[in-house]
Amino acid sequence: MTVMLLKPAKAAADAWLARFAAAAPGLEIRVWPDLGAEDEIDFAFVWDPPPGLLGRLPRLKGVFSLGAGADHLFRDPNLPRGLPLTRVVDPSMTARVTEHGLTLVLHLHRNMAAYGAAQRRGEWSPEPQPRAQDRPVGILGLGVLGGNLARHCAALGFPVAGWSRSPKRLEGIECFHGAASLAPFLARTEILVCLLPLTPETEGIMGAALFAGLPRGAMVVNLGRGAHLVIGDLIAALESGQLSHAALDVFEPEPLPATSPLWAHPGVTITPHIAGVTDPDAVVAQVIENIRRIEVGEPVLYPVDRDLGY
Ligand code: NDP
Ligand code: OXD
Repeated sequence: MTVMLLKPAKAAADAWLARFAAAAPGLEIRVWPDLGAEDEIDFAFVWDPPPGLLGRLPRLKGVFSLGAGADHLFRDPNLPRGLPLTRVVDPSMTARVTEHGLTLVLHLHRNMAAYGAAQRRGEWSPEPQPRAQDRPVGILGLGVLGGNLARHCAALGFPVAGWSRSPKRLEGIECFHGAASLAPFLARTEILVCLLPLTPETEGIMGAALFAGLPRGAMVVNLGRGAHLVIGDLIAALESGQLSHAALDVFEPEPLPATSPLWAHPGVTITPHIAGVTDPDAVVAQVIENIRRIEVGEPVLYPVDRDLGY
């Protein structure tokens, strides 16, 4: 059995190879671009594969995303049809994304950017301190990651709401779903966090109309994908005071170009796509289990729905 490993940027290829060798010594791992004969590849474990590559592998039986998001697979218009597609769902990734989400929500809630600027000016400058219970947080996306962040924000005392495609029930969380409920969800949200997958429906969702639907002075966090955000609309909303700050972890393209106006904008906090990493220890076991399932014809773990795009 042969697996192609492609662009394991979040851990060196050596780390993945060592984990696979320990867990499944019979599995041959070929690291792209050194694939050898393309007709010998059975499975692909990939991040952002070059368009056309997967369609050239005649023996391919399954495609496993190296991340929680699968949008990078759909950039390939020739992604083979009819193959199982999977993504990463892993408690250690969920914990890390939740930690980073909480860090940024608290950064905004406690006005840390203002203290950073005051420190650089050598100024002692206490700011007002709203209570968590008076600061409604809203999470776009109530899936594995958004749902967990919602629960943790609620545990800190924030009134929390979430927005999803289908109806949800989460204890202690006000749940909104569907396009028609976006407006009331936004109207009650002062700190908005995006943890949506990138699909044709969600691309550009963080734009002028969405910002206008938030209360004046609201703050936004993007942990989803860079293409959720319309950068020009964000800058306009920050300049007009409609938004007071944005904390961004994901960008289109990545790395964020040195020429981007976001780098120097005082209303923007940047982290370099580090909310969650894919942990080889946890994820190698998922890949091996999914290979077993595909070989015996069982449904895979953590499938991606090609029609929904996530
Ligand atoms: P899930 O698939 O578990 O959850 C996605 C959520 O988004 C679901 O609640 C889903 O609704 C909702 N959703 C999807 N489309 C729409 C829509 N059109 N309108 C309203 N709601 C919608 O994904 P995860 O929580 O595991 O991951 C979310 C994203 O986080 C990933 O796709 C990735 O882009 C990003 N990510 C970022 C990381 C980082 O380091 N910054 C790390 C890991 C992931 P429903 O429940 O009804 O299906
Ligand atoms: C992911 C990510 O999708 O890190 O896993 O963005």
